[in-house]
Amino acid sequence: MDDFHHKHGRLHCEDVPLDRLAEAVGTPAYVYSVRTVVEHVKRLREAFAELDPLLCYALKANGNLALLDVVRRAGAGFDVVSGGELARVLSVGAKPSTVVFAGVGKTVAEMEQALEAGILAFNVESEEEVEVLAAVAARVKRRAGVAIRVNPDVDPKTHTYISTGKKESKFGVDLERGEALARRVLALPSLELRGIQCHIGSQITTVEPYVQALEKTVALARKLRADAPALKYVDMGGGFGIWYRDAAAPEIAAYAKAMVPVLRDSGFRLILEPGRVIVGNAGVLLTRVLYRKTSGDKRFVITDAAMSDLIRPSLYGSYHRIWPVAGDPPPPLGTEPDLPLHDIVGPVCESGDFLAKDRPFPPDVKAGDLLAVMSAGAYGFVMSSQYNARPRAPEVLVSGAKFAVARRRETYADLVRGEDARPAFARLRVAKAASGAKAKPAAKAKAAAKTKAKPARKASAKPAAGGRARARGART
Ligand code: LLP
Repeated sequence: MDDFHHKHGRLHCEDVPLDRLAEAVGTPAYVYSVRTVVEHVKRLREAFAELDPLLCYALKANGNLALLDVVRRAGAGFDVVSGGELARVLSVGAKPSTVVFAGVGKTVAEMEQALEAGILAFNVESEEEVEVLAAVAARVKRRAGVAIRVNPDVDPKTHTYISTGKKESKFGVDLERGEALARRVLALPSLELRGIQCHIGSQITTVEPYVQALEKTVALARKLRADAPALKYVDMGGGFGIWYRDAAAPEIAAYAKAMVPVLRDSGFRLILEPGRVIVGNAGVLLTRVLYRKTSGDKRFVITDAAMSDLIRPSLYGSYHRIWPVAGDPPPPLGTEPDLPLHDIVGPVCESGDFLAKDRPFPPDVKAGDLLAVMSAGAYGFVMSSQYNARPRAPEVLVSGAKFAVARRRETYADLVRGEDARPAFARLRVAKAASGAKAKPAAKAKAAAKTKAKPARKASAKPAAGGRARARGART
């Protein structure tokens, strides 16, 4: 479901007309519906209620702090994949006992940070990782909760970049290795085996792969149970699909209906790590038309949002519905109107910068019109960048008739924060090159640096003017 509806001739998020919101915050801008997020968490919890699920929201989909706070209040824990994500969830008051830590490449520093916090489980993905984690845990004198990520060799039938459950994927260990690895964990006193985990992919729109994967995962957990007193969880990862082009993704209840019987009476508690299904349809990217143009037979709509704001179309060839905020509602999901084809493209200097290709689109849309790029709440802002020195878009939360900026638009000062146009080593060479002086022997140069060189200028937080001055300096 979502809370974006055309009412009174314009698109609303909950009760906020999006043209009014865009006037207040500018474009491009991400907009999220709180009600949709809360409703999705509730539906997940209710659908799997029989298994007393622990929902660990995968914030890689959207890590905005205000949104994390909403998710936490709705009763979910978190699935993190980096020390940065762990810091984010702790900063909004997440209970560490509701946090799992995934990823094939956890660093020692991240392990220490998570042990210090006291998270529920590390989802470990290799033999080498287990040995390192055991050593780190022993050194810091904390017992690490562990879930083995197995790879059930199931085809989730989704885009290859986001398919993770096949044998050849870099994730997890195969089932045979999984059992051996679990036994190794049981032999290491600084580790405690708490779960068996798998995640077969993302944007999965059929139920069968989950059932197959769950059966294999539960079978392994059962096999280990007698030797593993703390083994309480079966974690099925995330991956539930959402609407993009059509309503092909099953309702959450349909996944639950197929999965619950496999776990019922097993005595294991279910963990889920949903990301996209909670936030994907809860967000849109608002963008304004800058220009229109035609080249040969090709019609272009040029918007102020680019691949730097939403990379999914360029990276995966993903389809996002795009429609004007004002005027008639869009055609129903899954139908294409009989309209001339347009490429909807951004200002970035790459031919791969597009939001849509060959899309039937109203030909009367003109410069200044506001468009909504739908289903952009997941893997939208989090994958955005400052490419082409474009400040990242703001993120706005809507609740009922109210809206508030939860992350402000970046400034030019944000673009250069942390940079130094005159790092210590370059200062000398740049000064020499400018004065035309011959290179001094190294020792003399060092001495000169000590006496003459001024401290490197730090990037200040001042807006645009400071940024321009530094940019000029960088060219010398
Ligand atoms: N758990 C693990 C271990 C994962 O790797 C992922 C996603 C999730 C949970 C959450 O999956 P979800 O419920 O959101 O499908 N950038 C891509 C998606 C990458 C997904 C990576 N892993 C996209 O834009 O489609």
